[in-house]
Amino acid sequence: MDRIHNFEHIIAERKGAVALITFNRPKVLNALCNAMIAELETVLALIEADPSLSVVVVTGNGKAFAAGADIKEMADKRFTEVFSTDIGGSRWQRLGSFRKPSIAAVAGYALGGGCELALMCDIILAADNAKFGQPEITIGTIPGWGGTQRLTRAIGKYKAMDLILTGRHLDAEEAERSGMVSRIVPLADLVPEALKLAEKIASLSSPIAMLAREAVDSAFETTLSEGLKAERRLFHASFATQDQKEGMVAFLEKRPPVFKNQ
Ligand code: CAA
Repeated sequence: MDRIHNFEHIIAERKGAVALITFNRPKVLNALCNAMIAELETVLALIEADPSLSVVVVTGNGKAFAAGADIKEMADKRFTEVFSTDIGGSRWQRLGSFRKPSIAAVAGYALGGGCELALMCDIILAADNAKFGQPEITIGTIPGWGGTQRLTRAIGKYKAMDLILTGRHLDAEEAERSGMVSRIVPLADLVPEALKLAEKIASLSSPIAMLAREAVDSAFETTLSEGLKAERRLFHASFATQDQKEGMVAFLEKRPPVFKNQ
């Protein structure tokens, strides 16, 4: 795999049309320090601007996807600092506003900010040893990067309350049963399976995939009638692409389509 760019706290590589981002502070279970979040913001902007990259996979090096925001960095912060730097704001939400399909490949702990980053992705694949949770209450705070909102929408109010009010961990099986994990795979197969899934998505039309994910996301963001309207506009927009013509003509000609991302 080729490097996209050299960073200190993440590894960013490309394999064909797929970008693989690996959180790389394994000694502290990939605790998400501010510098790492800034690097993530930078690499996502690079990937988004690069038409040769269609899908991103995010994973962690070592025992964790990420065990949360870096508590060492946060412990002595005062209200005015977290408020004025808007910790949890747009920089921390960058993965959530990323416009290309994204897959979280979670092995080990995805806790606090780690769980919240996984929830910002479009698809979550879990290794059989994955553990999710929002343990902030056990350290005297609450989820601050979207956990109370995205987790609640993903698994429902009552399960989200159970997790957020106790800080307990959810194993891979319970996370899959709850609907936040799409599939559990053996640990050794996690990244290869995530790359395979990403390559499948990347083999289809990139602009159509972007329209599709935006339409699904509006189910999270708005009312049913507004969401249906947004879906219809995006569906109509697909007819402005060459890939829609190619896909439908290829079907009628009984041949595989050749998408050009146009
Ligand atoms: N921040 C900073 N350092 C962390 C960390 C974190 N979130 N999580 C783990 N580490 C560090 C530990 O301090 C330890 O470092 P040292 O070796 O220097 O002592 C190293 O990673 C290994 O961790 P443990 O020895 O604790 O490993 P373990 O296997 O015994 O336990 C664990 C694993 C249960 C995940 C435990 O590390 C843990 O509970 N971590 C904190 C989880 C947490 O509370 N996350 C939420 C953070 S707040 C947040 O994310 C707010 C938000 O909404 C954005």
